[in-house]
Amino acid sequence: MGTSRMFRIFVVLGSAFMILLIIIYWDDVGASHFYLHTPVSPGPKVPHPVPQKRPQTSRAPSFLSDIDAFVNQFLEPGTGEPTDAAPADTSNQSEKAEERYIPRREWKIHLTPLAPELRDRQEQRRRLLQEMCANDSVLFHGKNRSFDDIPNKELDHLIVDDRHGIIYCYVPKVACSNWKRIMIILSESLLQEGVPQRDPLAIPRDLVHNSSMHFTFNKFWKRYGKFARHLMKVKLKKYTKFLFVRDPFVRLISAYRNKFELPNEDFYRRFAQVMLRRYANQPTPPASVDEAFSLGIHPSFSHFIQYLLDPQTEKDMPFNEHWRQVYRLCHPCQIQYDFVGHLETAEEDAEHLLRLLRVDNVVEFPTSSRNLTASSWESDWFSTVPVEARRELYKLYEPDFRLFGYEKPDSLLNE
Ligand SMILES: *[C@@H]1O[C@H](CO)[C@@H](O)[C@H](O)[C@H]1NC(C)=O
Ligand SMILES: *[C@@H]1O[C@H](CO)[C@@H](O)[C@H](O)[C@H]1NC(C)=O
Ligand SMILES: *[C@@H]1O[C@H](CO)[C@@H](O)[C@H](O)[C@H]1NC(C)=O
Ligand SMILES: *[C@@H]1O[C@H](CO)[C@@H](O)[C@H](O)[C@H]1NC(C)=O
Ligand SMILES: *[C@@H]1O[C@H](CO)[C@@H](O)[C@H](O)[C@H]1NC(C)=O
Repeated sequence: MGTSRMFRIFVVLGSAFMILLIIIYWDDVGASHFYLHTPVSPGPKVPHPVPQKRPQTSRAPSFLSDIDAFVNQFLEPGTGEPTDAAPADTSNQSEKAEERYIPRREWKIHLTPLAPELRDRQEQRRRLLQEMCANDSVLFHGKNRSFDDIPNKELDHLIVDDRHGIIYCYVPKVACSNWKRIMIILSESLLQEGVPQRDPLAIPRDLVHNSSMHFTFNKFWKRYGKFARHLMKVKLKKYTKFLFVRDPFVRLISAYRNKFELPNEDFYRRFAQVMLRRYANQPTPPASVDEAFSLGIHPSFSHFIQYLLDPQTEKDMPFNEHWRQVYRLCHPCQIQYDFVGHLETAEEDAEHLLRLLRVDNVVEFPTSSRNLTASSWESDWFSTVPVEARRELYKLYEPDFRLFGYEKPDSLLNE
């Protein structure tokens, strides 16, 4: 008799405990829910919807994986390639308001299907990335680590747009100003300042590069606390992720032209003075960039390359973003990009991408009238750089060449 009574008490206590667990658990889900749907930029306040039903019937799911399932319900529509499904435009206003955090698509009817070449091109670029990430002969620092092991500060180039479900990894010197402009327009973060514009070029340059304009992954920590990592992963899974790259050597020429051939006080003080001191026999370089330019002094392209190859440079601080390798900025082996644009095919790629993102009736990619650095100048620029240095430089940027399908510049390396 004693054992059966013990058993009954045990069952009752057990059930009570389970019920208690469920109550606590619900509370937690409610709390996290509050975090998950904080709007990115100030906009109309939206009531937090009450969860309709518990996701799945898993008995003892881990807290976070359950949130994952929960969040996924809401994010479901926001993935990759466009489907041909028409938007369900039957929801009425109040339902729409509740669904504001579902990535929004600005529909445009296309009479012509996307050119198959463009689709194939993306397919090839994505496949190449996968192959190179899996190929052990392509080695670089940080390749093997998991997403969780990437420090927050290295996620500062990933700009998130929750409204449309887009993540953009910006690479300086690869049309990044214009793509940042597009991200600003999509995020509608200028609306409250009374600038309801859709013209990317109307956004002033200093605003474009002001980091307060962009919600990047490294800011998640501040907003979402302990949920940050998890939320990043959910967004990475559900959102459309893109980046733009270009020939790595041409990018370096472009960086040099932009930062050292034109007077730039900041870059002069932080980098040019160092180069002049170290490689140009100028123990006391002019104090300001104006003074230096009036004396016709600036580091040569060859000095710049020397600076990049100098082991001391990376010891002092990580490469500046204008010449940091794309694999270090965008983590292409941890993040599966849906779209890889090349600057060399920028216009076609932009059109394809905006269509893929379904925002091509909101924004247009501004065509550049600037004097772009052309690949054909490469041999001229590198003529002052010793062949040995070119080979070392190639090693430094080899992962970018291989990951993104840029040919090894044999003519430069075998002279
Ligand atoms: C909108 O939806 C709400 C709740 O689903 C419903 O009560 C209301 O009648 C609907 N309004 C219209 C105009 O369909
Ligand atoms: C990995 O890359 C090397 C070239 O460095 C190539 O020869 C090899 O076939 C690649 N391996 C795979 C599995 O693709
Ligand atoms: C990554 O892992 C592969 C085998 O899985 C190993 O051969 C390679 O050395 C590792 N690379 C780095 C940079 O740790
Ligand atoms: C960036 O913008 C914020 C507010 O919009 C402003 O306070 C700040 O000074 C700006 N920073 C720079 C570097 O312009
Ligand atoms: C573009 O820049 C190159 C080199 O900086 C210069 O030689 C060329 O004249 C420029 N072209 C135009 C149209 O400005």
